[in-house]
Formats: sequence, structure tokens, C-alpha cells
Amino acid sequence: MIRLHDLYFEPFISEEKIQKAISEIAVKINRDYKDKTPVFMGVLNGAFRVASEVISKFEGDCEVLFVKLKSYEKTASTGKVETFIGLDVDLKDREVVVIEDIIDTGNTLESLDSLLKNKNVKNYKIATLFFKPEAYTKHHKIDYIGMEIPNDFIVGYGLDYDGLGRNLSQIYKLKK
Ligand code: IMP
Ligand code: MG
Repeated sequence: MIRLHDLYFEPFISEEKIQKAISEIAVKINRDYKDKTPVFMGVLNGAFRVASEVISKFEGDCEVLFVKLKSYEKTASTGKVETFIGLDVDLKDREVVVIEDIIDTGNTLESLDSLLKNKNVKNYKIATLFFKPEAYTKHHKIDYIGMEIPNDFIVGYGLDYDGLGRNLSQIYKLKK
């Protein structure tokens, strides 16, 4: 068991299982993007590890881009602001592969969806290491899913609890 801030977490998914899930995603992406030059778009901060691994396993030419997303930043006026850092790049007619650490409600995904449509990309697909089907409220298709998990709060492999836990190489879940 480990402690981060005030909470306790117990081991949940081994490093071996994570590596297997990442390899499976990489195999599919290599197959689908053979002889194309995709733009991999990692979503910071959480996806830094999975993006690095998936991109390292890509065998063709590709470009790499990281974006940082802040959803639901409260302001007095609107109550909802979305800030995108790193998207001052021309993606017109490009084939984009978004790489996420986890898709939970799908709110972040929805923001990315409208963003990429505005960028006039040729097409884009979504890859995520973890997916919580019970929490998902959207209908957008998720193209590459490493692992489906129950609706538990997890940390490790890029995922944090209030800033801590991203460095852990296995996944821990909140101890109830
Ligand atoms: P969504 O917009 O609800 O799909 O969730 C997106 C973001 O919430 C993820 O990219 C994570 O940063 C964070 N998140 C969702 N579930 C977890 C979790 O179990 N642990 C840590 N962060 C999470
Ligand atoms: Mg994230």
C-alpha cells in the first residue's frame, strides 16, 4: 500500500499488464498507419508516458505534438473555459492520432473533437491506455483502447492524485 497526500492506494494493475496493453495499441497503429505520416498528439500531463511508449514503437515516419488541456477552469463570466496550449500548429489535411492516458466522462475528448474539427484535419483517431465505460457519457468512438477498467480512481503511469503518483510504474487504486 502507498500513501499520496491524505489518501491510501493499493496495487491494481502490474507494469507487465500495462506494457502488454501498450504493445497491443502499437501493433494496431502500425497496421493502420503503415506508409502514412501520422501526427501523434499526446495530451499532457497524464499521457506523457503512454505517448512516449506508443510513439517509440511506431515504425514509419511520424510527427509528434503535445497539447495541454485545461477544462472547466472556472471564471466569473462563463463558468467554463477551455485552454489549449501547443496547438499553434497547422494540422490541415493531416492524419492525427490523439494519445490519452485515460478516458473517463469523455468531456476532454469532446473538447478535442471540436478543436480538431476546427483545424480541418483529414481524419483523426483516439488512442487511450485506460477507459472507464461506466463513467463514459459520450458517443464518440474510441479507436484504440488499452484496457477497460471499473469506475475506480487510479494513479500511476502518468496519472496523478493532486499532482502526485505520475512516476509510479504500476497502477494503484484508491483504497476504500
Ligand atoms: P474525462 O474528461 O472525464 O474523460 O477525464 C479526463 C481526465 O480526468 C483524464 O485525462 C485525467 O487527467 C483525469 N482522470 C480521469 N479519471 C482519472 C483517474 O482515475 N485517476 C486520475 N486522473 C483521472
Ligand atoms: Mg489526461
